[in-house]
Order: sequence, then C-alpha cells, then structure tokens
Amino acid sequence: MRCRSDGSRRSMAPPLHTLYLLFFFFLRLSTAWRPLPHMKNNLTELEFGGYKKYEGSSEFVKLKYHMGPVLTSNITVHIIWYGTWPSAQKRIIREFINSISSADDHRSPSVSGWWKTVQLYTDQTGSNITRSVRLGQEKNDRLLSHGKTLTRLSIQSVIKSAVTAKTKPLPIHPKGGVYLLLTADDVYVEDFCQNVCGFHYFTFPSIVGYTLPYAWVGNSAKLCPGMCAYPFSVPDYIPGLKPLKSPNGEAAIDGMISVIAHEIAEVASNPLANAWYAGEDPSFPVEIADLCEGIYGTGGGGSYTGQMLNDEDGATYNMHGIRRRFLVQWVWNHVVNYCTGPNALD
Ligand SMILES: *[C@@H]1O[C@H](CO)[C@@H](O)[C@H](O)[C@H]1NC(C)=O
Ligand SMILES: *[C@@H]1O[C@H](CO)[C@@H](O)[C@H](O)[C@H]1NC(C)=O
Ligand SMILES: *[C@@H]1O[C@H](CO)[C@@H](O)[C@H](O)[C@H]1NC(C)=O
Repeated sequence: MRCRSDGSRRSMAPPLHTLYLLFFFFLRLSTAWRPLPHMKNNLTELEFGGYKKYEGSSEFVKLKYHMGPVLTSNITVHIIWYGTWPSAQKRIIREFINSISSADDHRSPSVSGWWKTVQLYTDQTGSNITRSVRLGQEKNDRLLSHGKTLTRLSIQSVIKSAVTAKTKPLPIHPKGGVYLLLTADDVYVEDFCQNVCGFHYFTFPSIVGYTLPYAWVGNSAKLCPGMCAYPFSVPDYIPGLKPLKSPNGEAAIDGMISVIAHEIAEVASNPLANAWYAGEDPSFPVEIADLCEGIYGTGGGGSYTGQMLNDEDGATYNMHGIRRRFLVQWVWNHVVNYCTGPNALD
C-alpha cells in the first residue's frame, strides 16, 4: 500500500495505461463480499467511489473493529465439492489449506507466514485469530443437488444438504467450522464473473438450522478465467497482455487459490459481518483482503502486482506451501496500516 506511487506502474506500456487501470479497478471488484443482491446493479459506482480513496494514501483506510467475534478457535475447513472435480485439482486446493498452519518446515516465504498477518486481528477480549487452520471432513456433491445455477440463497441449501446428508454428513462445527463451497467450471453462481469470483457470509438458522460461516469460490476456467484467474489467464480485451505461468500447472485452480485465501482471511476476521471491516455500511463492507486485492508483493498497487518470485521453470508465485508454490494476494495489516505479506522485500 505504502508504495502505491506512480512509479510502481512503470511496468506498463504507456498506450495501455488506461486500459490496465480500468481493468484493475474492475479486477478489484472481483471478490468483495456482497450480501445484498438488490445492490448489485449499483455496485460499480459505489465501489469505484470507495476504492479511489485507497489509491492515494493508507491514511484514508479506516478499518474498524465493530465488536463482533473473530475466529479465535481452531478453524476446520469443510470443503463441499459441487460438480465434477478432478482429483489432481482437489489435491492442489487441499495442500494449500493444509499449508496455512503447517509448521515452518517448508521454505520461506511461506503460506504460514502469510497467515501471520491475519492472526494480528483480535476480538474485544484481546484474543487473536487462531494460528490453526486444518482441513476437515469433505463432501462431494457430484450430482449437483441444487442444479447448475445457484443463487446466494440456494448456496445455503447446498450447505444444508451437506450437513444433513443421510450418508457421511458434514459435522456441525459452530465454533471453528468454515464451510467452503467450491463449484466446478460448468456451474454458474449468482453474480459470478460479473463482479464476483467468490464471497463469504453465514448461514441462516431458518434455512440451515445453524449460523455457520461459509465461503463460496468458483472455478472460472470456462466462464471468466481472465478475470478470476488473473494473472495466470488474461482478459481478451487487453491486447498484448500475456498470462504468467502458473506454479501448479492449472491456471484456473492456481488462480482460485488466491480467491480462497482471500475469503478464508475475511471469514476469520469478519465471520458474522460485525467484526473487522471498513466503510459505514455493514451490508457493504470492505474487508481485510478487499483492501489488498491484486497486490502480491512489494510495490504492488494500482495496476502493478508487486514483486513476485520466478522459478527456473518460469512459474510465478510468491510463497511456498507443503510441496508446492502458490501465488496469494496480501492482506491488510492494521498494526502498520498497509498490506503485508511474507515475501515483502524489506
Ligand atoms: C441504482 O441507482 C439508481 C439511482 O442512482 C436507481 O434509480 C436504481 O433503481 C438503482 N438500481 C438498483 C437495482 O437498486
Ligand atoms: C495478536 O494481536 C496483537 C494486536 O494486533 C499483536 O500485537 C500480536 O502480535 C498478535 N499475536 C499473534 C500471536 O499474532
Ligand atoms: C488446536 O490446534 C492445535 C494444533 O494446531 C492443537 O495442539 C490443539 O490441541 C487444538 N485445540 C483444540 C481445542 O482442538
């Protein structure tokens, strides 16, 4: 954040400058949490207004704690695989989640180092977000129990089906359970690709029987990889822009990893939409990952991703996990008032 000067945009070819800028404003809208469907037609205007404020200086970011709970108990992530998911793709996602709190036995910069910024957030008792994030029981919903098109409300019904299934229901885990719905590339979710790659919220007792934090992230491979798997896939409307080589050989999945990370960081710090966020309207919050979207390294901001790492094989990443490399966006650090990540150069 603090390096967001015009100098940080020098990597862009001048004629493309405006396009890049527009694209990145667009990209920045991609994973904000938007619980109110009726607002969707007016989001652009609202968010442009909001994000312009953060471009200049971090002093304008007023991230506030609103007295609600954060996830201080060990987090257990329950994945619901909706549609057909090849096991090679599942493996990449599982290994990312398991990397979040793996002991620092893999190389730095690490995914567990990335989570340290999330751990800086506390509740009103002074308890920090937990260090422990582990993968729990998973559920396959291969036959698309609620169809190929999901709405924000029908997502809750998918979760209900998973926790009430006759065989191997997912456990109800009100303390540290996070339910992560991942939709296959042929499933459309309300607003997907228009301005959304994922979101998080909590379930309603009237639908699911419990208040459970959940997140949804879609596989964008067929619908909008240039938006949701950027920079491993690029939009057609920017001529000459080349996709970067993804670290695990699956552009769409490698792109999803950063969106999953974004949503888990925000679920942990704002699980019931009443803890850490900026902005006056709790139904339209700007949360700790929204503030750093598109920033993967030192100098990132505006349309520049920041300094990333390149391996001999040409792949771009910014942190190591268990057996793999990942590219994950940074998150807002409220102690220093800018975005931080494990691969920071200073
Ligand atoms: C969007 O805002 C305009 C006014 O700025 C209003 O007329 C319109 O009804 C709004 N659309 C929705 C879907 O709320
Ligand atoms: C807990 O949060 C406080 C306040 O942000 C921070 O100073 C402290 O280092 C955090 N502890 C851990 C273990 O992250
Ligand atoms: C939380 O996780 C840690 C390991 O990360 C474990 O040692 C501890 O027992 C767990 N606590 C509970 C209450 O399950």
